[in-house]
Amino acid sequence: MSWSRLDYRSMLIPKRFAEIGYTLMVASGKGGVGKSLISASTALIEASRGVRAGLLDLDLHGPSSAAILGVTGAPAEGEDGLIPLEKMGVKVMSVEFFAEEKPVPVGGAGKRELIRELLALTDWGKLDLLVVDLPPGTGDEMLAAIELIPERRGCILVTTPSALSARVAFRAGRLLKDMKVDVLGVLENMSAFSMRGEEVKPFGEGAAEELSRRLQVQLLGKLPLDPEASLAADLGKPEKLLQTRFAEALSEILDRTLSLALG
Ligand SMILES: Nc1ncnc2c1ncn2[C@@H]1O[C@H](COP(=O)(O)OP(=O)(O)OP(=O)(O)O)[C@@H](O)[C@H]1O
Ligand SMILES: [Mg+2]
Repeated sequence: MSWSRLDYRSMLIPKRFAEIGYTLMVASGKGGVGKSLISASTALIEASRGVRAGLLDLDLHGPSSAAILGVTGAPAEGEDGLIPLEKMGVKVMSVEFFAEEKPVPVGGAGKRELIRELLALTDWGKLDLLVVDLPPGTGDEMLAAIELIPERRGCILVTTPSALSARVAFRAGRLLKDMKVDVLGVLENMSAFSMRGEEVKPFGEGAAEELSRRLQVQLLGKLPLDPEASLAADLGKPEKLLQTRFAEALSEILDRTLSLALG
């Protein structure tokens, strides 16, 4: 028997994930393209449809998805682990609940340990969908998630329409595919907004199409640049976020994208 099998977490993590129907990772490579807004909104939209949804923020240095849902506090210790906080039907776990406003000074192996601990200790109960908000880059957090969540998992790759964002996303997409993660497709965020009846595309167009072609995955759809969604996220008002054009567009895309995964 290898030493790692004696680690209690090696037994606990598979037990936790046996109760979770599907894990959706939200990745991009590039920072600031909307992963956290999309992760939080995905969990929220699915929960509003009666899906048992969870949201796990794995951005250890810049946790933000809990704040987008307006969730604060400290998880209670239950009989079987830490109980995630809950908002509008979404169970939420984030390092933010423990670190509060303090920085989290971990790197390399320390990050992986922290993630193992979080996955082992969180008692999600039964979930149909766990959304995982990843940090930018293709570093420890992504690698730990891929290693520790080996089954019934997939990934959405987020990019803006800019060529720069798509180029970075391509590398992340290649890595995910090489590591046998099912890349459900590319999701273009901040595509366009309307001004005096005209559609404005501030970041250009075509890069997401090219990205999905190069990776040989679907282009799942396009989300508008929507200041109301950003404002609702800043204020931590999920009920407002659900009513935005951004959420409406995402909802349609999720309908098509997750129907198979969620059965
Ligand atoms: N479609 C959109 N319309 C308007 N604002 C948006 C949209 N998508 C994201 N934003 C805003 O852009 C900012 C960055 O989004 P977000 O934090 O979700 O990106 P991220 O990819 O998670 O960033 P990081 O890489 O730092 O984790 C936030 O203020 C968010 O509210
Ligand atoms: Mg983020």
